[in-house]
Amino acid sequence: MRVVSGIQPTGNLHLGNYLGAIKRWAKMQDEAECFFFLADLHSLSTYIPAEERMGNVRDMAAALIACGIDTDRSVLFNQARVPAHAELCWLLNGTARMGWLNRMTQWKDKAGKNREGASVALFDYPVLQAADVLLYQATHVPVGDDQKQHLELARDIATKFNTDMGVELFTLPEPHIGETAARIMSLRDGNAKMSKSDPSDMSRINLIDDADTIAAKIRKAKTDAEPLPDSYDALEGRAEAKNLVTIYAALADRTQQSVVEEFAGQGFGAFKPKLADLLVATLGPIAARLADFREDPDTLDAVLEKGAARASAVAAPTLKGAYQALGLHARA
Ligand code: TYM
Repeated sequence: MRVVSGIQPTGNLHLGNYLGAIKRWAKMQDEAECFFFLADLHSLSTYIPAEERMGNVRDMAAALIACGIDTDRSVLFNQARVPAHAELCWLLNGTARMGWLNRMTQWKDKAGKNREGASVALFDYPVLQAADVLLYQATHVPVGDDQKQHLELARDIATKFNTDMGVELFTLPEPHIGETAARIMSLRDGNAKMSKSDPSDMSRINLIDDADTIAAKIRKAKTDAEPLPDSYDALEGRAEAKNLVTIYAALADRTQQSVVEEFAGQGFGAFKPKLADLLVATLGPIAARLADFREDPDTLDAVLEKGAARASAVAAPTLKGAYQALGLHARA
């Protein structure tokens, strides 16, 4: 079992990232060798000033360590320090098909009507993502539901490359999607995903929000006037209510059903303060650790440098195998 996953270093970590991915990353460290990276090469698909990008990478590294990523056990690095990612992406560009990339929902959503004006990096983004996991022979890729399609594409690319070149080079990665928190939704709209690109900060909980901000965001979160039922299935059609129950369950490591049973018959006036308390109890210590790590950019750089050296060494044989399979390097 080899675990590989990444996150874009754009702005703050939010609750969707934490419950959908990072909390599970931290747990998986007990079960497998893990590689976690900051997808700074992926962030080129959006314009970000250079200084800001560098700061974002350090901030996100600090956030991951604060969430429990243990850099003695797991390999933490940023893509740009491991050139094998960009190299394998280029080699896989010969295998990936335009039609496959054209079908990606993220491409369609982000490019919108202005496809001609979108960057090539935005279009090719899923091929780089395939390279990210195939380089390390990943078996398990813990992600939220929104990344499932990209990982299915990685499997298609790996299969076609292996078949076309007559090799057994790449392991097919499995998306590993959490049961409870696969998709955490916006606090303002239960049908939109919680996201860092939502213009309203009230739509998400950031890991660095203080207790008052968290309480205010939960108090103002959209809900309905009905009390909670005694079964989770009965919440069908109540997207905002479902989302708050899901957040509670994921934070408390419980099922949604056990949460609705506890609060059955009560309204959101009773439920929301309990949810806010749970959020503050979970995120408060993370934010405090994050503030400490942020003070020390030199240590963060040293951690990323060490991680990149370990990652490069593990990636090297697969990258070499890809060059050889394509007739770009001689076989040994
Ligand atoms: P990114 O940076 O958007 O998100 C990081 C992780 O957080 C999950 N996530 C969510 N989960 C549940 N509910 C939400 N509202 C929510 N929002 C985000 C994402 O599913 C993801 O697991 N393309 C990736 C980064 C990446 C990557 C990779 C991931 C690059 N290469 C290789 C895995 C393997 C992305 O933009 O994630």
